[in-house]
Amino acid sequence: MKEYNTIDDFDVCNKTILLRVDFNLPLDKKTLKILDTTRIKLVLPTIKELKEKNAKIVILAHQGRRGSWDFTSMENHAKALEELIGEKVQFVDDIFGEKAKHAIQNLENGNILFLNNVRKFSGETEKKSAEDHAKSELVQNLYPLADIFINDAFAAAHRAQCSLIGFTEVLPCCAGRLMEKELTTLEKVIKNPVKPSVFLFGGAKFSDLIVTIEHILSNKTADKVILTGLPANAFLKAKNYNLGKVNESSLLKEGKPEQFKEIKNVLDTFLEHIYLPIDFAISENGKRKELTLNDLPSDHNLFDIGEKTIEKFREILTTAKTVFLSGPCGVFENPLFQKGTKKIFNFISESDAFSIVGGGHTVAAVEQLHLREKISHISTGGGSLEKFMMGEKLVVVEALKNAKNKKIMNCA
Ligand code: 3PG
Ligand code: MG
Repeated sequence: MKEYNTIDDFDVCNKTILLRVDFNLPLDKKTLKILDTTRIKLVLPTIKELKEKNAKIVILAHQGRRGSWDFTSMENHAKALEELIGEKVQFVDDIFGEKAKHAIQNLENGNILFLNNVRKFSGETEKKSAEDHAKSELVQNLYPLADIFINDAFAAAHRAQCSLIGFTEVLPCCAGRLMEKELTTLEKVIKNPVKPSVFLFGGAKFSDLIVTIEHILSNKTADKVILTGLPANAFLKAKNYNLGKVNESSLLKEGKPEQFKEIKNVLDTFLEHIYLPIDFAISENGKRKELTLNDLPSDHNLFDIGEKTIEKFREILTTAKTVFLSGPCGVFENPLFQKGTKKIFNFISESDAFSIVGGGHTVAAVEQLHLREKISHISTGGGSLEKFMMGEKLVVVEALKNAKNKKIMNCA
């Protein structure tokens, strides 16, 4: 028995459903074209099920943040959804005004309506409780037109925002299929992984990762942690390796000098559990060249892991029964430096271990390598996944649980 309702708890036929999804997608900075639709693809089972069950579906979503270049309308998202689902998706350039309300009232069973970016409503991101968000214009205008609120936005489950929690106070509500799958799988893998478990972190950020690594090694969620990319460089620096000026300055652009002391403490406690690269690839005269730890410092950026490291990490991964993967092993966008990511990701996808991948860039790399079908679970979460790994409560999930306990008039 789940602590929150699921779609199985309701008869959705003929009902108007407010469906909150997370379609916050990577866009091209110049053209604003959508670059990766994984988050849409992973919500399709929910939308298809609701459609087959003859519900009227109203989609609420956000893109970007106010003031940021990727803060756009959802019109392209609606088109992308229409293409992926192969059914008509109506878009209205409105959230809770007359246009939106009129469109909702005119829906027929099985219709899909996509409303505009909920963050265009300034109250969306105000820091408030679910109870106070429920009093907002957004909730007050929309909820009388709907029967059920379904939250399938796992990637935004750490945000206490209006359209994510406000409706749980006034409508019967439940988790969508993606939310349910993410929570069930992560519960299993993060809280009780089949051992040995290996967590591999790469990518271009290390500052927030230090506490995560310490947490998962302390509570034995992870038996081994493998590092590549910037996190690896940060840990090498903390071990007193001189990486060279360019590499050290990229570290300081992302993190703070005092963090190397924190890393040193983590290394002192968990030295045998943390695995770092022993060789690297750099670009010299436009060609890939590999160098070892002994060749450091280097005047060149360390853009990928080298052959010896790939072999070393492959051996560690062979023993794993659970593998968690977040962050590419190098600068994956550049074909010269795809080798580490390609080899490691391919190896993980071929192994029998339960594999889980998280983080936008990592999911995009998996997609580009055509490995999506071979990974056991792709998590749509970024910040929400990090919070989950830290054992913190997700405010959206808590709201769904509270709503189940309160039993708001069930229309099933
Ligand atoms: C995400 O992409 O991480 C979520 O959609 C949340 O977006 P935010 O970090 O802008 O709140
Ligand atoms: Mg984010």
